[in-house]
Amino acid sequence: MKGIILAGGTGSRLSPLTKVTNKHLLPVYNKPMIYYPLQSLQLAGIDQILIVSGKGHAGHFLELLGDGRELGVHLSYAVQEEPGGIAQALNLAEDFADEGPVAVVLGDNIFDHNLSSAVHDFTKQEKGAKIFLKKVDHPEQYGIAFIKNEKIEKIVEKPKNSASNLAVIGVYFYDAQVFKVIKNLKPSSRGELEITDVNNFYLQQDILTYEIMKGWWGDAGESIDTLFETARILYNKVNQK
Ligand code: G1P
Repeated sequence: MKGIILAGGTGSRLSPLTKVTNKHLLPVYNKPMIYYPLQSLQLAGIDQILIVSGKGHAGHFLELLGDGRELGVHLSYAVQEEPGGIAQALNLAEDFADEGPVAVVLGDNIFDHNLSSAVHDFTKQEKGAKIFLKKVDHPEQYGIAFIKNEKIEKIVEKPKNSASNLAVIGVYFYDAQVFKVIKNLKPSSRGELEITDVNNFYLQQDILTYEIMKGWWGDAGESIDTLFETARILYNKVNQK
């Protein structure tokens, strides 16, 4: 399975830190943010990775990471000309995927969970998609899954006053039909092609599986506070505090 890291967007929630650089290049304790999702894919045995970034900063990724040999991965790059949502960014990976399954990670999601067994299970799943869930304190900031009798009933993007607090975190496995699914999407009210709509398509076809994420997970790009908090947690982990 190949890997895709989505690292576009304007990072407006982290302004002014993102005025001259991409949010995924900001330091999170001792590494640039994008090192963490790269490492997560690598630990799962995925070493062919496409980085999709926005127009202004694509060259910075290349300067930092090159062809990936220093980190032991093979990197390719794609450029999202204008921000149009996670699903639109993913659509740029169609040629790279080459009709095979893909593991997609949002470049600001940092987590402990080792994806190896999920990758193994997904290659046996043959078709469909797999998502990863984690309980959160602020469901209104995420895609939220509603579960009944261990089955997902629906996924709602950023629900207000949600009865569920199980967030769909930024790690998604898809079969090759994902690009067809994206081409049929309509932009949401915020003008974006939503990854939640992609996941709901797979859910309606009854080919969406899920795992509850183990260990710690952080969305470092959510706000300046989560960036700071993520760095603090990583500092404590590294220094065993
Ligand atoms: C995006 C997705 C959301 C998901 C979140 C995870 O939100 O739209 O479904 O729960 O990433 O980080 P965004 O960060 O674009 O607001």
